[in-house]
Amino acid sequence: MKYILITGGAGFIGSNFIHYLLETESKVDIVNLDALTYAGSLENLNNLPDPDRHHFVQGDICNRDLLDQLFREHKFDLVVHFAAESHVDRSILGPEEFIRTNIQGTFVLLEVARKHWQGQENTTRQDVRFHHISTDEVYGSLLPGDPAFSETTQIAPNSPYAASKAASDHLVRSYYHTYWLPVSITNCSNNYGPYQFPEKLIPLIILNTQDGKPLPIYGDGQQIRDWLYVEDHCRAIWTVIQKGTPGEVYNVGGNNQPTNLEIVNKICQVLDEKLPGSPFRPHINLVKHVKDRPGHDRRYAMNIQKIKDELGWEPTVNLDEGLQKTVAWYLDHQDWINHIHEKQDYQVWIQKNYQRKDQ
Ligand code: NAD
Ligand code: TYD
Repeated sequence: MKYILITGGAGFIGSNFIHYLLETESKVDIVNLDALTYAGSLENLNNLPDPDRHHFVQGDICNRDLLDQLFREHKFDLVVHFAAESHVDRSILGPEEFIRTNIQGTFVLLEVARKHWQGQENTTRQDVRFHHISTDEVYGSLLPGDPAFSETTQIAPNSPYAASKAASDHLVRSYYHTYWLPVSITNCSNNYGPYQFPEKLIPLIILNTQDGKPLPIYGDGQQIRDWLYVEDHCRAIWTVIQKGTPGEVYNVGGNNQPTNLEIVNKICQVLDEKLPGSPFRPHINLVKHVKDRPGHDRRYAMNIQKIKDELGWEPTVNLDEGLQKTVAWYLDHQDWINHIHEKQDYQVWIQKNYQRKDQ
């Protein structure tokens, strides 16, 4: 049996990873530590395939005593670290929590893992793994003809979110070189799929379209992202944990380059088909250009040759198929959506972010 600590497992990618792991692996036992911020929900963990192998603990990754106690009780041999403040727009309006959770929290987690995984004479156990989930945003922004980000691209974060993730990546790396803690890092492009909190582009557009609300496009909408269906990301993480070399970084991405306007257009087309009786068709007419995000990265692109060549991973769900699945999931989970709409924090955020952009 593998005893696993997953942090941030009530959020979007973490909860998908727990579903994925319990479905595909019989010999894993999971403790899921999550603070349940606005972005986390226990509803994301309903209908787990084998719920007895999942134990939820509500708590903060900055709480050293709690982490110490969990390591003592559960004798983890793997940490998969998702917990983070993850939304660029929120980091622009309030960066402090990003510094606390993403940098301080990662540091505390590394320290506790180091202490518990230290063996005789200060050697560190090599049969364990600390896997850190990170983002392509640490590499900064590309111009139209630039080559895609590779693992050796210079780190050049442009938002407080990206800077805090870059700092956490550096800390993780340093624990390998200084203490030989067996770490690995995946830097992944934009994810989409079930359970994504509707403040990020794709779920926000699906929800607004259904309700006939404006579809806010920052600036000219020509920014480019690489999009990966979340289940492909989960498989990449598990592949790196099992087969990746300790101390290494692996870039993960979906091999696509749509502009934001193209993504919104695709979602509108799927909804035009799926909701033939909608009074808001054609949904693309709901598009509204709003003030741009400060420091808005123009383009991300990922070179995924390393993970493909060394570990045999590549994406399996293309963008059109992934968007079909994602729209279908949101249309089928109206209760999940209603519960988010009922959260006051969500309404406050939407007002705060978009009022500012209307001015
Ligand atoms: P999310 O915001 O949906 O979930 C984050 C989870 O972490 C939430 O459940 C929240 O309650 C929890 N959390 C926050 N602060 C905490 C704290 N101090 N202690 C314990 N738990 C805390 O984020 P996500 O989209 O699932 O992203 C997960 C990870 O993947 C993050 O590290 C993010 O940087 C990275 N990532 C995300 C994307 C993406 O497109 N969403 C892409 C690449 C990498
Ligand atoms: P987002 O989902 O916030 O992810 P990230 O900033 O991490 O890439 O945004 C994806 C892209 O969509 C980004 O270029 C910003 C843009 N965007 C909009 O145009 N309108 C919106 O309302 C949101 C939330 C994002």
